[in-house]
Amino acid sequence: MGAEIMVEPLDTGRPHPARVYDYLLGGTNNFAADRAAAEEGLRVNPDAATAPRQNRAFMRRTVRFLAAEAGIRQFVDLGTGLPTAPTVHQVAQEVDPAARVVYSDNDPLVLAQARTLLTGAGNATYLHADLREPERILHSPEVRETIDLDQPVALLLYAVLHFLPDPADPYGIVARLMADLPHGSYLVISHITADHDPEKWARFSEVMQRQGIPTRLRSREEVARFFPGMEMADPGVVPILRWRPDEEVPFTDAQVALYGAVARKP
Ligand SMILES: C[S@@+](CC[C@H](N)C(=O)[O-])C[C@H]1O[C@@H](n2cnc3c(N)ncnc32)[C@H](O)[C@@H]1O
Repeated sequence: MGAEIMVEPLDTGRPHPARVYDYLLGGTNNFAADRAAAEEGLRVNPDAATAPRQNRAFMRRTVRFLAAEAGIRQFVDLGTGLPTAPTVHQVAQEVDPAARVVYSDNDPLVLAQARTLLTGAGNATYLHADLREPERILHSPEVRETIDLDQPVALLLYAVLHFLPDPADPYGIVARLMADLPHGSYLVISHITADHDPEKWARFSEVMQRQGIPTRLRSREEVARFFPGMEMADPGVVPILRWRPDEEVPFTDAQVALYGAVARKP
C-alpha cells in the first residue's frame, strides 16, 4: 500500500465538490467560494442544477430497488455528500427498519455534519475516509462493526467516481472494494458524462477544473467498464432518467448528463 492519503482540514476559502453540489441542490451547507464556483458553472451550463436533483431521485429509485426487490439489507455509501433528505438509510429503512448503512466522505464539513446525516438512524454510522484508500475503508472498524461481510452488501458510488482521474485508478479502486464483498452483492454507480452534449459539459468541467475541482467526464463505454463480469440489472448502463423511472420529468439526457447502473456480483 502507498503512503496514507491525508484527509484535508476544513478550508472554506476554496470550493469543494460536496459544498458546490449542496449549493446546486439548494442546500445551505456551503460557503462563498462554493457559491461563486457553482454560479460560474451555471453561467456556462444552466442545466448544472438539474443533474444533482435527478441524481438524488436515481439514488432513491436504486436503493428502493435494492431493498425491496433485491433483498439487500446492508449499504456502503462512499462520497455520500452533505445531508440531503431523504438519505440512503431513510429510503432503505422504509423497506426494512433493520437495514444497515455506512456513510463515508473525505470532506471535513461532511464529517462535521455527520450527526445530521445520521438523524433518526439506528444501524447507520459514518466513516471519514478517502475513496482512494479502499483498504482503509474495508478494514475500518466502522465497516467491520456495521456490515456483515458474509451477507450481500450494496456498494453505492453516486456522482463520486468522476472526481477520480484515470491516474488515481478508479477501476482498480472499485474492483478492490468489490473483491471483499460476497457473491450476491451489488454495485451502483452514477457518473457524469458529456456523451449527449459534449460542448456544454466540457465548458462546465473546464470551470470546475479552474476552480480546483477536476472532473473526469466518462463515456457510456467507460462507465460500463466499472462492472466487469457482473450481472447488469435491467436496463443496464443508461442515462439515469431511463433507469426504471417512477415519474415523468421534463428533462433530457443532455440536461442530466449522468449515466447510472446497478449490477450484481455473481
Ligand atoms: C457530487 S457529490 C455526490 C454526493 C452524493 N453521493 C450524491 O450522489 O448525492 C460528491 C461527493 O463525493 C465526495 N468525494 C469527492 N472525492 C472524494 C474522495 N476521493 N473520497 C471520498 N469522497 C470524495 C465529495 O466530498 C462529495 O461529497
